[in-house]
Amino acid sequence: MAEVLANSVYAVALTGAGVSTESGIPDFRGPSGIWTRDPEAERRAYEVYDKFLRNPVEYWMESVKSPIRDAIERAEPNPSHYALAELEKMGILKCIITQNVDNLHQKSGSQNVIDFHGNVSKLRCLKCGRRYPRDMFDIPKILEEGKIPLCECKYPLKSDVVYFNEPIPQDVYTRSVEEVVKCDVMIVAGTSAVVYPAAQLPRIAKNKPLPASVVEINAEPTPLTVEGISDYFIQGKTGEVLPRIVEEVKKFLAKYK
Ligand code: OAD
Repeated sequence: MAEVLANSVYAVALTGAGVSTESGIPDFRGPSGIWTRDPEAERRAYEVYDKFLRNPVEYWMESVKSPIRDAIERAEPNPSHYALAELEKMGILKCIITQNVDNLHQKSGSQNVIDFHGNVSKLRCLKCGRRYPRDMFDIPKILEEGKIPLCECKYPLKSDVVYFNEPIPQDVYTRSVEEVVKCDVMIVAGTSAVVYPAAQLPRIAKNKPLPASVVEINAEPTPLTVEGISDYFIQGKTGEVLPRIVEEVKKFLAKYK
């Protein structure tokens, strides 16, 4: 399938937690996933958005310390991220839409990244949509003073991370759909493709008037594989498969272009 990518005009990628497991960040629904090991944690995750809306002070008190966020901030990109960054440098991959909040695509050098589910390194205002670097705020000190981080518009800030039941920010959703409408190839890597609306994006790519080729890379088959949305399914670790694809694309380009 390397020739499909090499011949593409506008390739985009949709990535999920599986591209970051090789960086030591657990996924959610894989065999050692966070929800697989602790279904109660998934239930609690459904309450966070509501908590922010009802009581932002309590939300901040509970979320100021997060071992998962600490682990994410320490993590480094792995060969999956570097391979996608290289495909962008080669002019093939035009955009990455990621469900990951870990900033690792950006750390690996990718330029055009859409954080579909937000980014742990930012805070966002639900009222005016402004985003701020998280480290602009000394959050423990602000909480000690009995306050919470506020937007310039005075509305309470929350993490930029999109929680269950929270709508995808409009700017992010619009940009993502625009990219999908333009694409002729979509790489779908390391996602169980069960969380909507992200899981709709490959379906939009496949069902538009000029359908894109969907290239899926995952450790296990997903609904996209089973329902025939994926034209190609490569079973394996993204940290091994994606670098191999880059090498194959290079070989193809050297031979034919
Ligand atoms: P999931 O945990 O649902 O799916 C990750 C998929 O990647 C699984 O099918 C794994 O088998 C596979 N996988 C794991 N490691 C892999 C590897 N090294 N190579 C290839 N495949 C691998 O994660 P997502 O689909 O990203 O939402 O989950 C979607 C959303 O659900 C997340 O963004 C998160 C969660 O609730 C929010 O944070 C809002």
